[in-house]
Amino acid sequence: MDKVKKIAVGLLAFVLVFSSCFMAGNGKKIYAAQEKSSSLKLSVSNGKLVILSGKKNMAGRTYAVKSGIKTVRITGNKKLSKVKYTSSNKKVLAVNNKGKATLKKPGRADIKITAKYNKKTITGKITIRVTSKKILVAYFSRAGQNWNVGPDNSIGNIKKGNTEIVAEMIAEKTGADLHKIQTKKAYPSDYMECVKVANKEQEEDARPELKSSVKNWDSYDVVFLGYPIWCADMPMALYTFLESYDFSGKTIIPFCTNEGSGLADTEAAIKESCPEVKMKQGFEIEGNVAQYSRKKTGQKIEKWLKKVIDGK
Ligand SMILES: Cc1cc2nc3c(=O)[nH]c(=O)nc-3n(C[C@H](O)[C@H](O)[C@H](O)COP(=O)(O)O)c2cc1C
Repeated sequence: MDKVKKIAVGLLAFVLVFSSCFMAGNGKKIYAAQEKSSSLKLSVSNGKLVILSGKKNMAGRTYAVKSGIKTVRITGNKKLSKVKYTSSNKKVLAVNNKGKATLKKPGRADIKITAKYNKKTITGKITIRVTSKKILVAYFSRAGQNWNVGPDNSIGNIKKGNTEIVAEMIAEKTGADLHKIQTKKAYPSDYMECVKVANKEQEEDARPELKSSVKNWDSYDVVFLGYPIWCADMPMALYTFLESYDFSGKTIIPFCTNEGSGLADTEAAIKESCPEVKMKQGFEIEGNVAQYSRKKTGQKIEKWLKKVIDGK
């Protein structure tokens, strides 16, 4: 056999042996079981422990794990030594000293981390929220001119809608997907013009056409439904949304931003529109609080989520 042939035969033998490792007796390919996992990284900034999810520091915050994830892996850092992990609730998650947290049942648990850095002991904590449900946050929100968001509670201009801020916080805290409910015809940016359109749509019991639909609707168990209060009701686009989907077997959890009306009668209106749906207690917050007091907003949302998601 000349040299080229020898190499070719050698290669073929290698490929056969290698591929047979991944074949079951019935000839079907077996791949190494893919463990569903998400990951966090440790670091240090100004002598403090940082727990990174992507670029976000989640130390002291709630990190939600999407349904289906079985483990959270926390990887260490060369600057740190003697890293230790403890779980506040081993029924929800157990963590070993390599930073591998195994998620056991829905709920919340804190992982406390201690490590040596420059001969000092530093500590950090992260709360992990484990959910078994697939969650969607569907919301309507309008940026532009609005009431009570300018100086001294005057009319002002906002780049991001108040409800959108709340929707994004809920999604981050629950591991949910986001869907923005948008109408084909945009609402006026001018506040007074928008009130005129909203009033007219209400009088006509309109169903404004929506721009896009939710992908993989059937896969969701829970839908957080968010909206601003418009003229003591939901924007009419919310009725279009509620009438466009089959909500049987799903749970709706409403939330709204407003400037004094609270949830108005919107929970009853949702129930009337989807009698078959299960509902949980809604959440309301003033739009200007959501816009300008993010910390307070986050704390209020977290308190409510403990009731409606963690069951506490
Ligand atoms: C057309 C329109 C009607 C509104 N009607 C009410 C109302 O009846 N009661 C209330 O408390 N706030 C009302 N507001 C204030 C909004 O509910 C509040 O600014 C909300 O946070 C806006 O959310 P967004 O920025 O996500 O659109 C109205 C705002 C608009 C634009």
